[in-house]
Amino acid sequence: MIPKDIIDKIFETSHIEEVIGEFVHLKKSGSNFKGLSPFVNEKTPSFMVSPAKGIFKDFSSGKGGNVVSFLMEHEGFSYPEALKWLGKYYNIEIPERELTDEEREKLNERESLFVANAFAQSFFVDQLEAQEGKAIGLSYFSERGYRDDIVKKFQLGYSPDQKDALINAAEQAGHNITFFTKLGLIKSKENGDQFDFFRGRVMFPIHSLTGRVLGFGGRTLRKDKKTAKYFNSPESPIYHKSDVLYGIYFARKDMMNQDNCYLVEGYTDVISMHQSGIENVVSSSGTSLTNGQIRLIKRFTPNITILYDGDAAGIRASFRGIDLILQEGMNVKVVLFPDGEDPDSYSKKVSSSELATYLDTNAKDFISFKTDILLAETQNDPIKKSKLIREILNSIALVPDQISQSVYVKQASSQFDIAERTLISELNKIKRTKFKKERKEGGYNDEDTLDLITPPDQLPEKAAVGENLDSQELDLLRLMLLYGTYGVEIEVEDSNEQVKKLEVPVVQFILDELAADGIILTNEIANEMIDEFNKAADSGIIPDIKHFVNHQNQKINSLAVDLTAEKYIVSENWAKMHNIYPETEEMKLQRAVEEAVWIYKLRRVRLMKSDLEIRLKNNLPESEQSVVMKDIIKYNEIITVISNKLDIVVAK
Ligand code: CTP
Ligand code: MN
Repeated sequence: MIPKDIIDKIFETSHIEEVIGEFVHLKKSGSNFKGLSPFVNEKTPSFMVSPAKGIFKDFSSGKGGNVVSFLMEHEGFSYPEALKWLGKYYNIEIPERELTDEEREKLNERESLFVANAFAQSFFVDQLEAQEGKAIGLSYFSERGYRDDIVKKFQLGYSPDQKDALINAAEQAGHNITFFTKLGLIKSKENGDQFDFFRGRVMFPIHSLTGRVLGFGGRTLRKDKKTAKYFNSPESPIYHKSDVLYGIYFARKDMMNQDNCYLVEGYTDVISMHQSGIENVVSSSGTSLTNGQIRLIKRFTPNITILYDGDAAGIRASFRGIDLILQEGMNVKVVLFPDGEDPDSYSKKVSSSELATYLDTNAKDFISFKTDILLAETQNDPIKKSKLIREILNSIALVPDQISQSVYVKQASSQFDIAERTLISELNKIKRTKFKKERKEGGYNDEDTLDLITPPDQLPEKAAVGENLDSQELDLLRLMLLYGTYGVEIEVEDSNEQVKKLEVPVVQFILDELAADGIILTNEIANEMIDEFNKAADSGIIPDIKHFVNHQNQKINSLAVDLTAEKYIVSENWAKMHNIYPETEEMKLQRAVEEAVWIYKLRRVRLMKSDLEIRLKNNLPESEQSVVMKDIIKYNEIITVISNKLDIVVAK
């Protein structure tokens, strides 16, 4: 039992934002703090901490409470464990006394396992002072160039080359061996004989976020190949390898300060980097990188830099890592070390500042990294090159955020000197295939929709939500005025369901397209002009420019002049919008007209969709929600259809 006055003191002293800040990357937001929920995987922060009220609230999971309940929820602590943690954190002494047998039994299994690991860890550390450990373990560390303070900081140790050194020590201290067995520290033979798992190895304890020992890695000092270089603790109730990163306890502060995390291969890389002054470094030793590990990093920073060695295996591992990291919506860079070097060996070769400079200057974003590696293999073979581009687009397709995707596409476009819209159309194809495949496999539910990127020159920035449709509507009218009687081809089915090509005037093409979707232009004057076109079309006439330029309605004639005046025709804007030049417009009329229609429709649907999305966000009654959702899905389907058509138009 912890005395009441001590509990009060702990609560008084604790700053909730400070404590939670140890686990969650918090940003100031008014008088509160905000961050990504540590309980669910999310992209937009919904986790709030109020220092004034001393509470946290996680709007994603619904969890909330005070500083103690946070620790209980997040770390799986019991109430007294959470208080003890805070006591340690704020240097508040909590009077301890020997536990009674009854109390000891009450300690839950987890706690007992932690106690056993803590005992083993200090046992291994103590061995560095003993004769064997000093001669073999400690001298190995100094041969490796580890400073004493680093050996201490990482609580490195040594397991004697005996069958039962740990067993004996644990028994002597009155520990229950069962817990050591559960942790894999002690093994049992079939005949009941027990023996130490780690023997004659230097020991690397693996710490939790809060510095508790979860397991160990042990490196043999033998040179022969018969025994595995590293032994690692097995999974246990307190050690889930896929959610643990070696070094996270020592790295997390610096990960936040630097807003970046270096990811290396193993224990020795983490330790050597620390010794060289780089502390925001972790490793996924024992397993290949997992989503759980990436999410762990994400609590502290959205940026990861992978540091692997430049051999084939390292490169393969980094490719896999890149895709996993992108999938979690994080930013990834890669640094390769010179052939034959890993972060451990390289950091010993150069000074601390040289290492820092090397990392800064050699960090490549993933596109440049993949490009450089793969380009070296392709050697200008065009087929291989297009495979490489697909390879990179495949990675980009994994990025959950559309805006980031566009940025990556822009970069790839300049890297390969390929038009952005070509890459986008390829990317959209990949995304469609992926979407279909995953939907088939049941990876999506009905509400999921395929979000395709719209090429920037089809949908300029100003076409964003809230803008009117003027420029697209006027573009349609301009085409009708200037090229109304020119022919464009359409495909129609005859009575035998044969597809035939038919030539129709531009005016009719556009009028039919608008009528097919019951579209009424939003620009009033433009709409009046369309009405006039429609009326004339009913009597088989196509009005010419003069009809409108001389129109008695002042507004109509001035718009007609504007639309057809030379300056408008050569407007750079227009050329950019269609990626063609005025002098060739007539030649590319088919494409220009089709594009103008589809872009306009795409914008309309997008506007309607975003209206619905806004309604959905504004506390729509539940009864209406599903209807709106269905409509959004329908609009998404239309958007896909139109985007497909645009792809075809673009490809022509
Ligand atoms: N590692 C591992 N299991 C292995 C081999 C390596 O977990 N069987 C991890 C360790 O975390 C190690 C890192 O990969 O720190 C680097 O591997 P390696 O260079 O082979 O280990 P070192 O101990 O550095 O050996 P050496 O002195 O030969 O470089
Ligand atoms: Mn090594």
